[in-house]
Amino acid sequence: MPRSKVTVIGAGNVGATTAQRIAEAGLADVVLIDIVEGLPQGKGLDLAEAAPVVGHDARVVGTNDYADTAGSDIIVVTSGLARQPGMSRDDLLTKNAGIVRSVVEQAAAVSRDAIIVVVTNPLDAMCHVALEASGFPRERVIGMAGVLDSARFRTFIAQELAVSVEDTHAFVLGGHGDTMVPLSRYSTVAGVPITELLDAERVRALEERTANGGAEIVNFLKTGSAYYAPAASVVEMVEAILKDKKKILPCAAYLDGQYGTKGLYVGVPVKLGRAGVEQVIEITLTREEQAAFDKSAAAVRELVDKLKL
Ligand SMILES: NC(=O)c1ccc[n+]([C@@H]2O[C@H](COP(=O)([O-])OP(=O)(O)OC[C@H]3O[C@@H](n4cnc5c(N)ncnc54)[C@H](O)[C@@H]3O)[C@@H](O)[C@H]2O)c1
Repeated sequence: MPRSKVTVIGAGNVGATTAQRIAEAGLADVVLIDIVEGLPQGKGLDLAEAAPVVGHDARVVGTNDYADTAGSDIIVVTSGLARQPGMSRDDLLTKNAGIVRSVVEQAAAVSRDAIIVVVTNPLDAMCHVALEASGFPRERVIGMAGVLDSARFRTFIAQELAVSVEDTHAFVLGGHGDTMVPLSRYSTVAGVPITELLDAERVRALEERTANGGAEIVNFLKTGSAYYAPAASVVEMVEAILKDKKKILPCAAYLDGQYGTKGLYVGVPVKLGRAGVEQVIEITLTREEQAAFDKSAAAVRELVDKLKL
């Protein structure tokens, strides 16, 4: 069986860390591509030279030429500008839309059967750009945000209750932004909802910290945004697709009426397998949760409308 091939566009913090994780997990050969000459070649070679020590056989190459990405199974899009302190994800809208459009057009042209995983912010809006630029069916264009947001929520739940992160499960819905909707009654420790383990005020504090999780790190770093947990989250999606795991993960998916939303990318639980988004999982929301979801979807819609797609 030929080895899988994953192209990672953008050899910056998220892209290079994603490439490292994919290679070290032995999931696929990796092509790292960037607009800056030498950057992907240098990082690609450095990663390849780690292979004998780490003990994996994945080939990692860096390039500036999309011809080298041909025949990819997955294209991960991380190219673009990251947030600076005081900058919202939405400030990135126009600049990153231009970048995402250009890289997706070039990559999709030589990998017509690939699945695209979008990471560049503002995430949900960039999924629309990638969908249009690729011409791919909607189930093969997916955004990464919910896996990261729920990982953050799980981290805070585990810290709060002094339990293993492995015993936690967290549920987040909505756009990747300040309006995201952490669903506490579906967020559990060993199957028990956190709403039964913590008082309402603590639950609200954890939800708020989750919604501001990206900004918390930007404020520390000052010159960039998070990348270890984002890269790990991308790789969970890549693994679910390549191994056809049918894993239920929160991802940005194109909604066609589900959750009362039509024609929009929003974060929802999906079944992820070799075909991409194989099912959007619908759960019943309370009136309050539905209102929060609608508000979040409206914020995404506003950005997409600005792009005039
Ligand atoms: N979805 C999420 O949850 C999530 C999490 C973290 C970061 N992000 C987003 O991911 C993106 C990347 O973050 P980062 O920390 O890796 O940034 P970074 O600045 O470290 O890397 C971005 C890379 O993109 C490259 N690039 C720019 N224009 C390009 C083009 N036209 N073609 C190819 N490469 C190009 C740059 O040269 C740079 O190497 C940002 O938009 C950030 O906001 C999203």
